[in-house]
Amino acid sequence: MPTDAAFDELLSTGARALSKRYWTPVSVACRVADWLGEQRAQTLLDIGSGVGKLCTVVGLRAECSVVGLEQRVELVKLSRSLAESFGVCPRVSFIHAALGEVALPPADAYYLYNPFGENLLGIEGQIDHSIDFSEARFCQDVRLVQGLLRAAPSGTCLITYNGFGGVIPAGFVDLRVERHGINDLILWRKR
Ligand SMILES: C[S@@+](CC[C@H](N)C(=O)[O-])C[C@H]1O[C@@H](n2cnc3c(N)ncnc32)[C@H](O)[C@@H]1O
Repeated sequence: MPTDAAFDELLSTGARALSKRYWTPVSVACRVADWLGEQRAQTLLDIGSGVGKLCTVVGLRAECSVVGLEQRVELVKLSRSLAESFGVCPRVSFIHAALGEVALPPADAYYLYNPFGENLLGIEGQIDHSIDFSEARFCQDVRLVQGLLRAAPSGTCLITYNGFGGVIPAGFVDLRVERHGINDLILWRKR
């Protein structure tokens, strides 16, 4: 598996500077891929996929199809080129849209790396200033995810890394919990 440094080398200078804070480390992404394999997940949707690092690592290590949803067009371009470089296209693909703007593809697993936190962090904590952030938008995005999870069928998997800012809906049971640095990686499955 390529190292974090190998991924960083393929990013723009700006995106590389954000790596430690915003993109899932390779070691964590490998755990995600292994858990998806154990659960026999066929399709993963990463909501807020950034530079596509998590999607690409899962594509390299697990057999499932992976879709990343990302609101920033520059990050989507980087994601496509990263996935292309590692030869995981078209099994790994990306949608340029904000959550709620487009119909989501069917998935039996979801990944959330605290995607909506930027709404609450102030200018210092934001990836860039191209997006209008607000507490109202944070609440709306959290509600959209909760609605998605409530509507999901039994057996749906959810993997959270540092949460997503909301309460996980009833019916999801935590099967695995690991601490990676200061972040919790949790595998949930709907009863
Ligand atoms: C912490 S990064 C995680 C990136 C990636 N999932 C990973 O693990 O490497 C969160 C990403 O979510 C994106 N994002 C935040 N809110 C979003 C929304 N409502 N719709 C789509 N993307 C969103 C941000 O632009 C950012 O790239």
